[in-house]
Amino acid sequence: MRTPLIAGNWKMNLTRADSVALAKALAEGVGSATHYEAAVFPPALYVDAVREVLQGSKVKWGTQNLYPEAPGAFTGEICAPMLVDLGCTYVILGHSERRTLMGETDAQVNKKTLAALAAGITPIVCVGELLAERQANQTADVIRKQFEGSLAGLTEAQIKQCVIAYEPVWAIGTGLTASPQQAEEVHADLRKLLAERYNQPLSQEVRILYGGSVKPSNAAELMSQPNVDGALVGGASLKAADFLGIAAGVKS
Ligand code: 13P
Repeated sequence: MRTPLIAGNWKMNLTRADSVALAKALAEGVGSATHYEAAVFPPALYVDAVREVLQGSKVKWGTQNLYPEAPGAFTGEICAPMLVDLGCTYVILGHSERRTLMGETDAQVNKKTLAALAAGITPIVCVGELLAERQANQTADVIRKQFEGSLAGLTEAQIKQCVIAYEPVWAIGTGLTASPQQAEEVHADLRKLLAERYNQPLSQEVRILYGGSVKPSNAAELMSQPNVDGALVGGASLKAADFLGIAAGVKS
């Protein structure tokens, strides 16, 4: 049984005060729900303030990136043990904005994934094709390559600790959403890749989230697909009502 996860990626938005207020509203809105899990990803600078609000609530928290080294001389970076120190459950890795804007490669995402796992933090590893790749019918190949590269060398026990997020790049922040059928096709492919590399029962255990212009009006249909186990939400996660509206789309 895969518990759906609704994850809010706040990206580089909000002030400290906004973050605290949003976290409070989410803790209250999520209440004691157990049929799904909620997590938020504030800018790293605000994680501690958000932690103070969310501690003791059902909402978990994490960061949007990490640097895969032990503490040391790495100016400007944050490492997995620091995430542990701040009670993070999750970390988003390999987001398309990091791949595109910061040139992050599958090999780097793989190192980060292993560093998160070694610290006991659950990585949410993102994959997704560009519009040109979809138009050229390369989606399945791109997803396979990112899956193989970003998740290279993980043991069965390690992959079971991971969450995968399918975020078609053309659907991120554009208002364009993959249709439920388009999302399901890629999610089913990802599960097939898990079954091929590991085994069928394991493939049924790993959660695969959809991300890309998820909003209250399209969330329920996307999440009703058999292989869609929740959502990674950007813009709509910045408003408590929208995040909670998306969570309301999880079947209880
Ligand atoms: P939007 O929901 O704003 O399209 O962003 C999706 C995303 O990138 C989440 O990580």
